[in-house]
Amino acid sequence: MKRFDYEIIDSTNEEAKRKIIAGETGDFLLIAKEQTAGKGRKGRNFYSPKNTGLYMSFVHVGYEALENSVSVTTATSVIVRNAIKHAFSIECDIKWVNDLYFKGKKICGILCECVLPDSNRKETGIIVGIGINICTKDFPKELTEKAGALVENEDFEYIEKLISYISKELENYFVNPSEYRYIEEYRLHSCCIGKNVEISDATGVINKGIVKGFTDEGHLILEDYEGKEHILSSGEISLMVL
Ligand code: BTN
Repeated sequence: MKRFDYEIIDSTNEEAKRKIIAGETGDFLLIAKEQTAGKGRKGRNFYSPKNTGLYMSFVHVGYEALENSVSVTTATSVIVRNAIKHAFSIECDIKWVNDLYFKGKKICGILCECVLPDSNRKETGIIVGIGINICTKDFPKELTEKAGALVENEDFEYIEKLISYISKELENYFVNPSEYRYIEEYRLHSCCIGKNVEISDATGVINKGIVKGFTDEGHLILEDYEGKEHILSSGEISLMVL
């Protein structure tokens, strides 16, 4: 697969967008050793210091209808979890929607973005941005409680193993997204099922209750304290210690 490597870049997702707009097609990969403006979900930053993490974007430019690709976020969390297990023999938990946790701390975030067709381009570009803290230390103060890393010291052999596992599996996924099986594994490794949670949506509304499970599409099934079921497709989840 075509691959672009960078010593330093603002954000591999942003560079992916520039490449799609410039006419790059097919599947390709962008990998950076450092990002100066790593992007997280909900407009947040993703801390991306030099040579301590894997900062990659897998890009698929194709004609798929967008609804087929909604599952890409959920499927990617399973793929990255399996890649980490394969490369490091480490088992991570999946926290809805798509964060990976190890020893109670977030070690991976996933940001999927999309470039819609325009008058010059008929195809849709789907960008799967993945940030893994391999041996990241010295997090900014606001992250020290929440963020962690997989191992003590960096090892490039492991990083290449991760890249090749993830890119092969995402390539498989995009061959036929609706046929790709991942939800059973997602459920199995979720750290949310059966837990009391608070979920806030984009408008700030907070839902409280117990996570009953996930639909086949990866939506969260929440039972509130009156016993009513809610199906949530996105939101910010916090597990409550009761
Ligand atoms: C999150 O945790 O909110 C998502 C973080 C996604 C970070 C990755 S690092 C590679 C790619 N480029 C970016 O700017 N962001 C994603």
